[in-house]
Amino acid sequence: MRKTGRPDRRIIVTPQFLSRVAEVVFDHVDADLGVFRAFDAKGEPAFEARRGFDGTPDEAGVQRDGEALAGRALEIGRPVLVPDLRREPLFADLEFDGDGRRPRSVLAYPWIVRGRPAGLVLLVRRGQVRPFDGDAMEFLTLALAPVLYLLRKNGGPAPPADPTPPPAPGISAAAAFLGDAPAVRRVRAMIERVRDTDAPVFIAGESGTGKELAAKILHDAGRRRGGPFVAVNCAAIPEALLESELFGHARGSFTGAFRDKTGLVEEASGGTFFLDEIGDLPLALQAKLLRVLEEKTVRRVGETRPRPVDVRFVSATNKDLEAEVERGRFRQDLFYRLKIIAIDLPPLRERPDDAHLLLNHFLEEFARSMGRPRPFVSPVALEMLVRYPWPGNVRELQNEVQRLLVMAGGGPLILEEHLSPKINPAGETHVSATRLLAEARADFERRFLREALVRCRYHRTRTAAEIGLTRQGLFKLLKKHGLEGRTG
Ligand SMILES: Nc1ncnc2c1ncn2[C@@H]1O[C@H](COP(=O)(O)OP(=O)(O)OP(=O)(O)O)[C@@H](O)[C@H]1O
Ligand SMILES: [Mg+2]
Repeated sequence: MRKTGRPDRRIIVTPQFLSRVAEVVFDHVDADLGVFRAFDAKGEPAFEARRGFDGTPDEAGVQRDGEALAGRALEIGRPVLVPDLRREPLFADLEFDGDGRRPRSVLAYPWIVRGRPAGLVLLVRRGQVRPFDGDAMEFLTLALAPVLYLLRKNGGPAPPADPTPPPAPGISAAAAFLGDAPAVRRVRAMIERVRDTDAPVFIAGESGTGKELAAKILHDAGRRRGGPFVAVNCAAIPEALLESELFGHARGSFTGAFRDKTGLVEEASGGTFFLDEIGDLPLALQAKLLRVLEEKTVRRVGETRPRPVDVRFVSATNKDLEAEVERGRFRQDLFYRLKIIAIDLPPLRERPDDAHLLLNHFLEEFARSMGRPRPFVSPVALEMLVRYPWPGNVRELQNEVQRLLVMAGGGPLILEEHLSPKINPAGETHVSATRLLAEARADFERRFLREALVRCRYHRTRTAAEIGLTRQGLFKLLKKHGLEGRTG
């Protein structure tokens, strides 16, 4: 989609460029052994520079040591600085050749680009030597930064014809799953890592935490994005119809089956099949689904012939499926089969900073869609929004923002009184100065109490303890301010 008439300014990682960086690294970081290697998209070495393989008699042993270390570094998948190999559990099981010249200190920097190994730098010092230190690692990190940047942006040194279609517009891999909390970053990293495989993915999370969104992103970012994304809510379809909905049926196989029907699993062929609320799948169908997963075929109701299907299964639930297994309501074998890759979505109350980030995002998005400028939120209202525990998670936050835009009536500011009662239970209103001290004090007291309550999720004993009151003292104040009806 480049504009016509302009030269392609995309800088790609050329062997010349890699060779120059390798030289800089080898010259600057003193090592007995150096490997600088880049892989193509198929994982084959596409570039290599080495130091220290000098044709000495123990060359073969040195080679083997180098390969063993390089292989392990790629498995570890992140940069590692090992001052002394004898004391490093990550490499403890590797055997090395040679005596006095065994590898001793290692600096390994695997390049992981879009979840795949794209290359690595391995530096080794042997024998009784000065170990690598943090400075060496820092230098390596800086030297590799442009290489990794370009690889991530523009691909590998020898880009082969890529059979996967380009990403759908607007979706840059997992970028659409917003949030900055470590748990959310892990979700994005996981999606990146598994998007191109066919292994089943199981997404767990409370209501409204983004399970369906994550499933959709997984599909849209992965190599099946050219195929269909078919979602089924197991809880929403009556049990009697579910089997024929999922697997299809033959004409005349039951009353009302007037013609052959393709099941949804078959319809998802070439794409992703998303089983939502999998915890509600009846036991009889669990057995059938297990067979589909194992044999990669479906049998339509009323047919004996299995039909091959090529789908990736993603399932989700907000139930505690492990507990369901223990209660005998969910098959253990299916449970393990489905959750080969498990993604846990954290509730919003555990990441108040994300609540803030998402609030801004939705404010902007909804305001734009309404064709009006983005309003701002008063500090007190913001405090209440961020502190609210959001039992309905992101969906509830989204709904609240939509409501706020209506309540603010096109004004430039969102105030406390615009918030829903559950978020602003005392119905506080934005106040300006010039009032009586007693009034202001009562106002402050109410606000202070309300915030403490929200912070402690309306747990009274905890609230009392937190603000240094007895339970009785707290009750009295709650009564005074008309807040006594609220418990968590
Ligand atoms: N991290 C996020 N970034 C952006 N939007 C999000 C995020 N998480 C959730 N959403 C949005 O919140 C809404 C609810 O998400 P979704 O429907 O995926 O949740 P769910 O976990 O499937 O909920 P339920 O259990 O109720 O089915 C959607 O509109 C989704 O786009
Ligand atoms: Mg859902």
